[in-house]
Amino acid sequence: MLTDYRSFYLCGLAGINPIGVVQVIRDILTLRRALAGLPRPVGFVPTMGALHAGHLSLIRRARKDNPTVVVSIYLNPTQFNQPEDLETYPSDLQRDLTLLQDEKVDVVFAPSHEEMYPAGFQVDRRWWPGRLAEVLEGRFRPGHFEGVITIVRRLFEAVRPDRAYFGQKDYQQWRIIERMAGDLFPGLQVIGLPTVRDDDGLALSSRNVRLSPQGRRRAALLPKALSQAREAIEADVPIPQAVQQARQMLEAAGVQVEYLEAVDPLTLEPVVEGNCLLCAAVYVEGVRLIDNVLVEK
Ligand code: PAJ
Repeated sequence: MLTDYRSFYLCGLAGINPIGVVQVIRDILTLRRALAGLPRPVGFVPTMGALHAGHLSLIRRARKDNPTVVVSIYLNPTQFNQPEDLETYPSDLQRDLTLLQDEKVDVVFAPSHEEMYPAGFQVDRRWWPGRLAEVLEGRFRPGHFEGVITIVRRLFEAVRPDRAYFGQKDYQQWRIIERMAGDLFPGLQVIGLPTVRDDDGLALSSRNVRLSPQGRRRAALLPKALSQAREAIEADVPIPQAVQQARQMLEAAGVQVEYLEAVDPLTLEPVVEGNCLLCAAVYVEGVRLIDNVLVEK
């Protein structure tokens, strides 16, 4: 197993790209040199590894749109507001590289901490989107978006992509990054893609592996509650009432609801009528799960 990984890695180090072998690059300078020899546009998919079909949907779209595809794998410590979440976050680089090789990704950027944070784990507060990062996740995960913005900005500066792909599962993250690109990276197109779900409706997430079979069944109530609320709103039940019913359904089943809100899909401010995004964060067996659905009226 190790030898496989080494061959990926060594090709990356040597800047060799045998046909069909993904280059694994650890530092920005080597990345810049490798990208100088590859055709544009460059499509970029940032990840924290532990890849699943949700990640792969972004990568496949990037592959379809661009002659060059870069995927980053970097478990970013500054966006974890709870140390145990970082400690238990799954990671399997060998498996990830095999998947990326199969997807015909050109370059995997898997930087060291020193490369991403040369001055230590300091967050970069030069750009801040205001309320957009202070509502929803921002309210319950202090420091999270500071960490996300810091790392995505650093990755964008390193990769200089033409297109970057994000999942709508992390809807607020996608909106924030889209705004950051508009302000700081002219010409960079940020593309948000639909949430990939398992057969039971649960949104794929690297954290799902921590659920027991019973927890898993309970977790699947989250998408169910959200889609029932959507149907109710579409059938003219007032938004606050539908939201309340969804919350009750989850709590009655022992799902701890951190927030469940109907917000404006652009500003993320609360709404009581019209189009809305229903979004929620819940805990099942100590695992924090988020999800959202769009309601168009
Ligand atoms: P990570 O959780 O690894 O997710 C990487 C990308 O995959 C994100 O854009 C996320 O929204 C998307 N994604 C995750 N689950 C998905 C699903 N079920 N369907 C569709 N897309 C899905 O998000 C991060 O990493 C980090 O915050 C990062 C942007 C890499 C910065 O560290």
